[in-house]
Amino acid sequence: MFPSREIVGIDIGSYAVKIVCFTEEKKQPRLKDWGHIPLAIKPDTPPEEKKAIISQEIKNYIKKKGIQAKYAAASISGNAVIVRYVKLPKLTKKELALTLNVEAEPFIPFDIKDVNLTCYILNDITEDNQPKMETVLVAAKKEAVKDKLDILSDAGLDPLVIDVDSFALETLYSHLAPQADNNAVLILNIGHKVTNLSIISQGTTRVVRDIFIAGSTFDKAVQKILKIDAAGADAIKKTKGLLVSDEDKAAAIEAFDKEGIAVSKAAAGVLKDLYTEVSRSIDFYLSQGMDHSISKIILSGGAVNLGNIAKFMTSEFKVPVEIVNPFAFLPEQGNKVPKEIRPALAVAAGLALRKLKDWD
Ligand SMILES: Nc1ncnc2c1ncn2[C@@H]1O[C@H](COP(=O)(O)OP(=O)(O)OP(=O)(O)O)[C@@H](O)[C@H]1O
Ligand SMILES: [Mg+2]
Repeated sequence: MFPSREIVGIDIGSYAVKIVCFTEEKKQPRLKDWGHIPLAIKPDTPPEEKKAIISQEIKNYIKKKGIQAKYAAASISGNAVIVRYVKLPKLTKKELALTLNVEAEPFIPFDIKDVNLTCYILNDITEDNQPKMETVLVAAKKEAVKDKLDILSDAGLDPLVIDVDSFALETLYSHLAPQADNNAVLILNIGHKVTNLSIISQGTTRVVRDIFIAGSTFDKAVQKILKIDAAGADAIKKTKGLLVSDEDKAAAIEAFDKEGIAVSKAAAGVLKDLYTEVSRSIDFYLSQGMDHSISKIILSGGAVNLGNIAKFMTSEFKVPVEIVNPFAFLPEQGNKVPKEIRPALAVAAGLALRKLKDWD
């Protein structure tokens, strides 16, 4: 019996679980299944109970859709993982494996015993006449990795990889833009609790950072202005958006659209804070002597459905900002998936492509 080649990408977020599975038909990739399951778990739910709810949701979905793929990939981000680009003395892979904990320790703000460490060698360089290598260090908290593994196995799946959200986005981007150009792109995956930032230059991720400003930050700002609860704020922001043009603003004032004005004000404030953080990462990237400036910002994540977000950010960042369609590389472009769901499926699509990429 050959194992099925399909892999289900499962992005377990704090707001929703996103599921994507591709298949191949006549040598063409095709979207086989997708799912978007909002979670609405009460914040005070104990962690074990939370895990049980999530794996049950995944199990139900798999049953309902008759998904036969056994293998799954999930990912971690936020406080659960640290990604660092560091220069280490030139070592063979074997030497590195033996000394990794010692080499990595100064760069990892967690107790080394609590993390799974991985190191990828990017390339060799010479610095101060010494042979060195540029590497990516990934330190993933063991507990967070175990949580994801448990959720997948309890849902009846066979976990193949626990990836990092930003790396899943890199995999996706390599399908969306297979010809690496000479410019760098910045990807912002704006979720509920966290925004994953990555800068990809010539096909390689150069900066990875998670910023704790995202959809729930919009909610808090709306709550404060309108004096309503989180659920109310979440619902209102979905019907309103940013007022960008003078006409939009004038129309909202004329219509006494108190909620519309409040959402726009709250969201603009939050996006300005996000802008400050993003600018810091761009400066950091440019300070490393990179000669490729950021040519484009690609937005993904559920929160990018906020009305007019791309327009607002284009005027703030002064570079083109576009919202991703994670299925744009498919012949049918994912046209069966509602347009507002697509950007939230980006990480799950990248996870599902891990395997497709390995087939090439
Ligand atoms: N139409 C909409 N307008 C504005 N915001 C929206 C809309 N639809 C969804 N969102 C917001 O998107 C966010 C959820 O996005 P996403 O599914 O990417 O998050 P997540 O992956 O579950 O969270 P995280 O990765 O941060 O734990 C929520 O804050 C939600 O309110
Ligand atoms: Mg997410």
